[in-house]
Amino acid sequence: MHAHLNDPYVKLAQQRKYRSRAAFKLIEIDEQDRLIRPGQVVVDLGSTPGSWSQVLREKLAGPGGTVNGRIVAIDILPMEPVDGVDFLLGDFREDSVLEQFVGMLDGAKADLVLSDMAPNLSGVGLADAARMGHLAELAVEFCTRHLKPQGALVIKCFHGSGYSQIVELFKRTFVTVAVRKPKASRAESAETYLLGRSLKHRAAESPGSPGG
Ligand SMILES: C[S@@+](CC[C@H](N)C(=O)[O-])C[C@H]1O[C@@H](n2cnc3c(N)ncnc32)[C@H](O)[C@@H]1O
Repeated sequence: MHAHLNDPYVKLAQQRKYRSRAAFKLIEIDEQDRLIRPGQVVVDLGSTPGSWSQVLREKLAGPGGTVNGRIVAIDILPMEPVDGVDFLLGDFREDSVLEQFVGMLDGAKADLVLSDMAPNLSGVGLADAARMGHLAELAVEFCTRHLKPQGALVIKCFHGSGYSQIVELFKRTFVTVAVRKPKASRAESAETYLLGRSLKHRAAESPGSPGG
């Protein structure tokens, strides 16, 4: 509690009216990697309480303050509305929810998929790693279907058991893979972010290729 109250990012979040200090993780990643631009279709997985959606809203603001582009967000927990953000309440792991979520994209492909999803940690290392790995796999699979070829995916993951498998999955899926640990992510936390850019060409999916 003491650490929380003295945390500069908590104070800054209050000043700038962000719902969570997590806003600064995305702001910092974006400062380094220039991922978010007006006109884009952006997907926010695990969006509640909504600070990443708030940041996206600011960065996609067009003339007159309206959203220039699309922001679609999902969480298993309710989220207070963020103006210009389409939110779906549901579990990203469920097929019927995923179908509904994809429907919200209206057939558009995403320029950027962000996942700050984290399972409720049980403290049992292997079980937690398996849950985290599953969420990461689902986010990557979502990208293979709904991300533009030159698009990008950022996911939260945790160093430890299962981490190297997620990195390998990223390397199989994306042309470039980078690890990001923003300053706003507490140093003592195993939390880290993986950034994948540009989908690798999949021979089996290209029309006219042998077997595809
Ligand atoms: C760290 S919080 C996200 C914070 C958010 N990025 C922000 O800036 O306000 C992680 C979120 O992931 C959500 N989550 C975890 N598993 C999920 C799932 N299977 N489907 C949808 N959301 C999930 C949790 O409910 C939680 O709100």
